[in-house]
Amino acid sequence: MCFLGLELLNLPVQPIYTFSSMSKHFETNSIRISTSKSNQKEHSAPLYLTSSFTFDSAEEARATFAEELDGNIYSRYANPNSSDLIEKICAAEGTEDGIATASGMAAMFASIAALLQQGDHVLAARSLFGSTHQLLTRVFPKWGITSTYGDISDYLNWEKLIQPNTKMLFIETPSNPGLEIIDLEWAGKFAKAHGLILVVDNCFATPYLQQPAKWGADIVTHSATKYIDGQGRVLGGLILGRQELIKQVQFFTRHTGPAISPFNAWILSKSMETLAVRMDRHCSNALKVASEFESHSSVIAVKYPFLKSHPQHNLALKQMSQGGGVVTLDLHGGIERAKRFIDSLKMISITANLGDSRSIITHPASTTHSKLSEVERQQVGITDGLIRLSVGLEHHEDIISDVAQALDRSN
Ligand SMILES: Cc1ncc(COP(=O)(O)O)c(C=O)c1O
Repeated sequence: MCFLGLELLNLPVQPIYTFSSMSKHFETNSIRISTSKSNQKEHSAPLYLTSSFTFDSAEEARATFAEELDGNIYSRYANPNSSDLIEKICAAEGTEDGIATASGMAAMFASIAALLQQGDHVLAARSLFGSTHQLLTRVFPKWGITSTYGDISDYLNWEKLIQPNTKMLFIETPSNPGLEIIDLEWAGKFAKAHGLILVVDNCFATPYLQQPAKWGADIVTHSATKYIDGQGRVLGGLILGRQELIKQVQFFTRHTGPAISPFNAWILSKSMETLAVRMDRHCSNALKVASEFESHSSVIAVKYPFLKSHPQHNLALKQMSQGGGVVTLDLHGGIERAKRFIDSLKMISITANLGDSRSIITHPASTTHSKLSEVERQQVGITDGLIRLSVGLEHHEDIISDVAQALDRSN
């Protein structure tokens, strides 16, 4: 479990709302878990914009470094703002401990680099965020860590993909951008049966909709840049899981330095307070948008986990409480139509982010997943006409009318 360490700052310590006194309700924990109050008695957690922390004596410094005393040392290791964020997210995910990093990719990189050695092998689901794919196929092989992809339509075949040196199972569900759903129960059992570390990127679902640790995930990662921030302001990443594994990742991050800034951690911790209400609205808006365009003549297919037509709809119902905020539309007319459609939008933003209060459109084939080869894109269903719509918090009628007019004008 993480510590907040304020006792050592000589501040009067108020009772902290911690793990042991957690509520059974997501919303309450996300709001009430907090650093203890300083002597200013502020109501909202302050920003600890400091690189290091002081000690009252040489002995206290020694003992803190030796981990005989809990306490903050240096913000590359921990800071009250990052600890505050980690404490909240651990409560949300049901994990023992965690680390906050400068970006989602720093979290993906650190969780693999810290837990594997040269000569190890990762088995991963084929549908992964573009940069995670680059890590596995182009970065880690340089250090002798290799990977193989499995197709989720073919679970029975995954046994055959395991090698004597396979150490990790890495998945993302729902996947970006294909919205493929991987059976977390299956993944948890499969990983356990083969002694693999199961890593789940839970960025699209957020802990409000799905908690992979419940199904046996050893490590849960996030791009906190997305729904956890929720307003497109800051980058951040999270690595959460069993303490024994997190300790190993902590050693790696302390000495390689991908720490989150206190300011970004403070923003993300504040954002956790509204995650539940925001996700409720993202999900209800997304379901309305998906249903509206499901049978539109310009659209080959609309994909959304909580539409009955989604190929893994029942699985989504089993492991997610709602369908998330992302909808994909596969347009007739390929790349040219997709570009005309995007250029015809009046309100929805054209940008590569997602999970923002503002609705966002992205063309994965030419942006986020453009570094994949055409074959690699086809294998994960990223067609030239595929549009990823991150449904925001505007009124659903305005989102629907912008998409509808752009479909008409681009016809
Ligand atoms: C599923 C997923 N994982 C990881 C990342 C990387 O996160 P970041 O951009 O915060 O580095 C993203 C970014 O879009 C993502 O969608």
